[in-house]
Amino acid sequence: MVGILYFSATGNSLYIAKKIQEKVGGELKYIPSYQGNCSEFDNVILVTPIHSYGLPKLVYDFLPKMDKNKELIIVQNYGGMVGGADFYAYSYCKKLGLNIKSMFVLKMPESFTTTFTVPKFYIKSTLKKAESAIENVIDNINNKKYSLPKQKKTKEKKYLINKSNWNKIAKSFCVSEDCVKCGKCVSVCPVHNISIENDKVVFGDKCIACLGCYHRCPQKAIRYKNHKKKDRYFNPNVDENELGKNIK
Ligand SMILES: Cc1cc2nc3c(=O)[nH]c(=O)nc-3n(C[C@H](O)[C@H](O)[C@H](O)COP(=O)(O)O)c2cc1C
Repeated sequence: MVGILYFSATGNSLYIAKKIQEKVGGELKYIPSYQGNCSEFDNVILVTPIHSYGLPKLVYDFLPKMDKNKELIIVQNYGGMVGGADFYAYSYCKKLGLNIKSMFVLKMPESFTTTFTVPKFYIKSTLKKAESAIENVIDNINNKKYSLPKQKKTKEKKYLINKSNWNKIAKSFCVSEDCVKCGKCVSVCPVHNISIENDKVVFGDKCIACLGCYHRCPQKAIRYKNHKKKDRYFNPNVDENELGKNIK
């Protein structure tokens, strides 16, 4: 059976993973809670957002635990600029000795929107265009039309510097008076970095900057640098309750 491992904060990667499952079969596993090494699967498709021209920190930390014999396909998705993310992830897999067979990259709506707003019409058209691109990736997977990325000019170093600084972003979050202490941020955080102490939301120092809490707070009470902007994003084509689940 195919293992479809995914990480997603705002639903885009989950949407792609579910589409792949529909046409390729297999089982979905949410990386933050998955304890295995993929040895139970025949082969693995890993679906992940691009974070800062690279892999989200928790995906980066997961890959060394993977069974090196399993054929691996990575499907990355991004909001605006790939940089060298595909080549970076590919080289990292090679360095780890993983059996990486193919990489695919898809454009989805941007989630790193703490300081700017993406117009609704653009989100809609990006989602529409993504449909055929996702189908194309699935056809390529089913027909074993594999491809690997070539080196680009973006330097790996910038990504590595950003990655080691991600935990600092939480220091720029604050919670407005709209917070009703519902605890959703606590439960959606993939690295258990948020707690409620003395009736206050507290951010620890393990943040990976996925922005799940920021986008999914029902009150839009989590703010970045106290910006009062109210637009938040979650992929409208998936059920938010499924994010975080393993799906057979
Ligand atoms: C911390 C962070 C960094 C990001 N870095 C990039 C980037 O370097 N290039 C890009 O095009 N999109 C970037 N994005 C946007 C996401 O890759 C994109 O919106 C993705 O579809 C989100 O997937 P998800 O909904 O499954 O979490 C970033 C998003 C976050 C939260």
